[in-house]
Amino acid sequence: MTKKSILTRIEIKLAAMSRRSIFFLAAAVVMLYFSIILFMLGPLHGSRGGYYAGGYMNNFAFRHDPPVNWCSELTWQSPPSPDVVALVSYPGSGNTWLRYLLQQVTGVVTGSIYMDYGLRVHGFPAENVTDGSVLVVKTHAVPMDSDKFKSAILLIRNPRDAILADFHRLHRGHIGTAPKSAFKKKSHENKKSDWSTYVSTQLTAWETLHQMWLTRFPGPLHIVFYEVLVRDTRNTLQGILNFLNYNVTEANMNCAMANKEGIYRRKKKHQDFEPFTADMYKALDQVRNRVLSMVMDYKRKHDNSHVRKT
Ligand SMILES: *[C@@H]1O[C@H](CO)[C@@H](O)[C@H](O)[C@H]1NC(C)=O
Ligand SMILES: *[C@@H]1O[C@H](CO)[C@@H](O)[C@H](O)[C@H]1NC(C)=O
Repeated sequence: MTKKSILTRIEIKLAAMSRRSIFFLAAAVVMLYFSIILFMLGPLHGSRGGYYAGGYMNNFAFRHDPPVNWCSELTWQSPPSPDVVALVSYPGSGNTWLRYLLQQVTGVVTGSIYMDYGLRVHGFPAENVTDGSVLVVKTHAVPMDSDKFKSAILLIRNPRDAILADFHRLHRGHIGTAPKSAFKKKSHENKKSDWSTYVSTQLTAWETLHQMWLTRFPGPLHIVFYEVLVRDTRNTLQGILNFLNYNVTEANMNCAMANKEGIYRRKKKHQDFEPFTADMYKALDQVRNRVLSMVMDYKRKHDNSHVRKT
């Protein structure tokens, strides 16, 4: 073999290698391109399919969580109550956490007008049960004449945190958080970000939900502020149990308090990051103040009628 032919062979080999690496490079570019398209196809709207879609996402969030340890084994309400009590809140307001606390302290399952498969396999076997066999029934809907609710607990969280928490849920399930990029994304034809459109529509929904329950619901309403529930869990929970006319032992209350964190509270993240603009804060404050004054009106009327009766 001559020196020249060896060199030629090496050249041919090198050429073949670079053709192969160009091929792999091209393949990598194509794959990157498709993964970007897949990423773009999964925007906010994709997961905004109501609570059924949310339940699907929750399966991923919960997959590695330990099972729930209940203070006592969960049972159905026995005998079933003739009156169904709604547990009303805007999404992201701690509805699942309050259900968790109620199940811990009473040992009775709580229901829901939704079927969240993720919750059903993680401590909430009565998803999609809306009769008197459950303690309370979760709903995010406005009151309707067709409802069987005789009374309601209205859980109110400030709209800033509720809207943010629900935005996280839509992106990551019940206990995850949305990536920062989710707050910047814009739809093609829109100048505003999806996030800012989301905030204004959800703020309207937040106001409507509370307004409807505070002014249209004929039955007794027990109002609970999420922030108070967090700050003074024991007394707030006791107030709810009084409203439900449900007695619990001191030992059960202590057990529930010892386990009050549960696994259903989202860990705070992005503490350094401010997703709300000054304009958003202005709108949030206006709407929140309107609802707070509706709450005061409700309480005033409620007290007056009570005074008149006695
Ligand atoms: C929910 O319950 C109703 C009956 O109460 C049933 O017809 C329906 O199929 C259930 N939905 C799901 C998603 O399981
Ligand atoms: C709860 O306890 C009080 C006093 O301990 C009692 O008078 C009341 O009947 C009890 N209520 C229920 C629903 O068991």
